[in-house]
Amino acid sequence: MASAARSASRAFLRSSSVRPAVRSSRFALPAQAFRASSRRGYASEAGEAKSSNTFLWAGLALGAGAGAYFYLNGGESINSKNFVPSKADYQKVYDEVARRLGEETDYDDGSYGPVLVRLAWHASGTYDKETGTGGSNGATMRFAPESDHGANAGLKHARDWLEPIHAMYPWITYADLWTLAGAAAVQELGGPAIPWRPGREDKDVAACTPDGRLPDAAKDQRHIRDVFYRMGFNDQEIVALLGAHALGRAHPDRSGFDGPWQFSPTSFNNEFFRLLVEEKWQNKKWNGPGQFTDKSTQTLMMLPTDIALTKDKEFKKHVDRYAKDNDVFFKEFSDVYVKLLELGVPFTVKPEDRYVFKASE
Ligand code: HEM
Repeated sequence: MASAARSASRAFLRSSSVRPAVRSSRFALPAQAFRASSRRGYASEAGEAKSSNTFLWAGLALGAGAGAYFYLNGGESINSKNFVPSKADYQKVYDEVARRLGEETDYDDGSYGPVLVRLAWHASGTYDKETGTGGSNGATMRFAPESDHGANAGLKHARDWLEPIHAMYPWITYADLWTLAGAAAVQELGGPAIPWRPGREDKDVAACTPDGRLPDAAKDQRHIRDVFYRMGFNDQEIVALLGAHALGRAHPDRSGFDGPWQFSPTSFNNEFFRLLVEEKWQNKKWNGPGQFTDKSTQTLMMLPTDIALTKDKEFKKHVDRYAKDNDVFFKEFSDVYVKLLELGVPFTVKPEDRYVFKASE
């Protein structure tokens, strides 16, 4: 969507143009109230929609064998049972995510992209390499209790936003859709290419992971390592992943924390690291959970876990590398985000056959 430039300028305008001397009125305000998203259901209701399709197309399906049903996809009728999506079909899903990201700018700082990135991460970050449980396979956040885990507060905005796309392309699993959208959001917000491959299935409620697998932002580097080593990441990969905090903001009504990490929170870049290194971060004085604010403008924020990256020698080494070199950050972020989005998935598509989606113009 030529989105890098568009969203950067939009966010830049919203952030009062001049940095860091001018205080951003947008950032100083509490998070906007969001449009009430219409209640859309997940598995069970999607199932109902499919079964009404089944009736609708029953006549046709009869001729095609038991259990098969048809639906319309871009005007073509497709037998979902035998339909094997190609790269071009996944590109159509990508294009729809990109189109809506470009059009629906009336949310937060002007984009649903950041919350899509977070959905993909929270769907994947439950992985436990010892037991092989959790990970992006399953999309179990469709169900309580996982959808109600404190760490997942606010991700309903992303899940609901993706429902119409799932309705348009019902052959894609939620697990594939959520991760594809997370990859698309990074690309459309000006980040690196995120190669992606299909193969995730949707599991039922029994596969929900226990609460407590995702990191707690109030903690320190020991906790960060515990959580990310459990998924199989090393120190360099952990730091690269945290660079996603260039995007979006914390919301008092979700995590309790408040504010964006950088001045253009809809642009994917290495600003998180540059600001972490170059700004002075002080304790925010407020009636909320402990977080940090930049001394210059007091409009930005860092979580205790973000600051922990500067307190630890091994982590800091990589913070400095990424602060200095956006290209290095892009390359290493892409590699590790691909790894994150693939945790726990028994792919049949080989790594070398991953798709690189064409970003919008
Ligand atoms: C130590 C690890 C991490 C902690 C403690 C953490 C914590 C948080 C918290 C508290 C928020 C604010 C949520 C809200 O109030 O809406 C947030 C937002 C966000 N996180 Fe993380 N996070 C971590 C790692 C990651 C990783 C690995 C990614 C992606 C690769 C990521 C991507 C994001 C994004 C894009 C947002 C903004 C969401 C929005 O604007 O709605 N985070 N994170």
